[in-house]
Amino acid sequence: MKFTKKLDLSVLGWFALLACVLVVLLGFIAFKEENREWKNVQKQYFATEQKVAAAQGREVTPSALALKQVMIKDLGRVDRCITCHVGIDDPNMTKQAVTDAGADFKVFAQHPDFETLMGKHPVDTFACTTCHQGQGLATTAADAHGFVHKWDFPMLGNNHKDEMTKYAQASCATCHTNPTDWEKIGANKLAMGREIVNDNGCVSCHKIEGKGGIVGPDLTYIGDKLPSQLHAALAFEPIKEAIREGKFEGVAKDHHIHDDVATWHDMHFMNPAAVSPGSAMPAYGFTEEEREALITWIFAQKKRNVPASYLKSGASAPVAAAVAQPEAKQAEPAKVAAVNAGSKGLELFGAKSCGACHAMTGVPGAVGAVGPKLDGIGKTRDAAWLAKWLKDPAAVKPGTTMPTLGLSDDESKAIAEFLVSKK
Ligand code: HEC
Ligand code: HEC
Ligand code: HEC
Ligand code: HEC
Ligand code: HEC
Repeated sequence: MKFTKKLDLSVLGWFALLACVLVVLLGFIAFKEENREWKNVQKQYFATEQKVAAAQGREVTPSALALKQVMIKDLGRVDRCITCHVGIDDPNMTKQAVTDAGADFKVFAQHPDFETLMGKHPVDTFACTTCHQGQGLATTAADAHGFVHKWDFPMLGNNHKDEMTKYAQASCATCHTNPTDWEKIGANKLAMGREIVNDNGCVSCHKIEGKGGIVGPDLTYIGDKLPSQLHAALAFEPIKEAIREGKFEGVAKDHHIHDDVATWHDMHFMNPAAVSPGSAMPAYGFTEEEREALITWIFAQKKRNVPASYLKSGASAPVAAAVAQPEAKQAEPAKVAAVNAGSKGLELFGAKSCGACHAMTGVPGAVGAVGPKLDGIGKTRDAAWLAKWLKDPAAVKPGTTMPTLGLSDDESKAIAEFLVSKK
């Protein structure tokens, strides 16, 4: 008895020791692997730099391998991206020169749009993750780029080669706070996204900066939401299944998707109900370019936490709730007068996105299911009641979920006339 007990203990002891050795060994191997990755990339860079310099008739003294980082207290950033992307702010390392030297310009050349993006935002005051997101401290490419499960805010793109900066313009809004500047500073995708949001009645269902409907989730800080906080909890299985079932127009049934936030939004904009079963959000049929712009806008909806010295609010008005108050596309008065009342009502029905919530036979895009179908509404309601309702639904029926759409008296009347004219 005694003997076996002793043996048990010593066997256990040996196992424990072995386990410890293994853990240390594995840790060491992982550490070495990580070390090797950035060292290899940097070696390649220095070799490329020599070739480029030789071709340009310059001389550079070879540098020693070293981890490189920029630390910016005010922005709370410690970024090691330049450990691998060493040439990012070197004016000599042009795309052409690096390509001629036989190296990958995406990794080793100077930053695209160099004069603006590096010239106006120097590395030692702006770092990289300020515009890109990703994991600044990491020393492997995969971890740094952030499309890994333990990192919630990957680079502003998706997990496909050459598409990792697809939505990078979202970052411009952090500091260039005035949307009317976006086009001018070259953030054209971001500007386009905002326009699409204004033109498609998103605020009839979503609150944005305090204003809007309550049918869908508040979009004010949607760019800050962790994947798990999205309405459909970022479930990818339903999406993959829906793809196999052919529920996404233009997407092949064997198409493979990566589990990243941008891809979730992309599929959601294509077909909300397939991603989030039972969703009342309409499938708008946006083009790829439009979805790209929309997602850029989505990622820009973040709390701003940069010091005032970094803000570039521009000459004109402050941020304002510009998004919340769509600049109603005012048709020129002369043009409106020329059209008869019935078709003006139809035009407004489209412009105010009534069809996102109501179905109506024969009206293009009127497929919504949030409110009642409006076929034959003239049989139960007269034009005067409808005009009053449309102007301010809550005044007629307190607590109603139909939002107040900010219609003028004339607009309410025109739509009411259109509704009763449809048999
Ligand atoms: C002011 C914002 C900003 C800063 C700061 C910034 N980037 Fe970028 N970066 C962008 C944008 C926007 C793009 C996409 C440009 C495009 O598609 O034309 C981009 C593209 C890139 C690319 C893609 C290159 C290619 O040819 O496709 C790399 C690599 C890159 N950035 C690395 C970095 C690194 C490393 C840093 C830090 C030293 C950095 N960036 C800092 C905004 C920025
Ligand atoms: C360990 C080296 C390493 C580090 C650290 C690193 N990168 Fe990269 N990066 C690469 C390599 C290698 C590529 C080429 C594509 C690939 O293999 O992923 C690349 C590609 C890129 C691209 C172009 C992607 C594309 O194809 O569109 C961008 C943008 C970029 N990196 C930004 C960053 C930023 C921002 C950081 C810091 C958060 C960073 N990288 C840190 C090695 C690194
Ligand atoms: C962290 C804050 C910050 C971010 C993010 C940022 N910028 Fe800037 N940007 C500035 C500041 C501050 C200046 C003024 C620099 C100066 O005057 O030297 C500036 C200047 C500029 C300028 C020069 C014209 C002007 O208005 O002064 C352009 C163009 C520009 N940024 C484009 C962009 C684009 C495009 C992006 C997104 C890819 C971006 N910026 C992201 C802070 C930022
Ligand atoms: C008819 C009402 C309606 C309209 C109009 C509408 N949505 Fe939605 N939206 C919803 C509902 C309901 C959800 C929640 C269910 C889901 O995930 O689809 C939602 C979800 C979302 C989500 C995911 C939010 C989260 O936190 O999970 C985004 C992003 C979004 N909508 C953006 C938009 C944009 C941009 C527009 C305009 C182009 C728009 N929506 C128009 C009803 C609407
Ligand atoms: C965000 C979704 C939404 C939008 C946008 C919307 N509605 Fe509604 N609507 C509803 C809901 C929900 C009801 C039912 C309200 C109730 O009974 O409390 C309703 C009710 C109505 C009714 C009353 C039906 C009845 O007989 O009681 C009419 C008429 C109507 N909507 C017309 C419109 C028109 C025209 C527009 C565009 C100018 C519009 N709606 C935009 C959601 C919406």
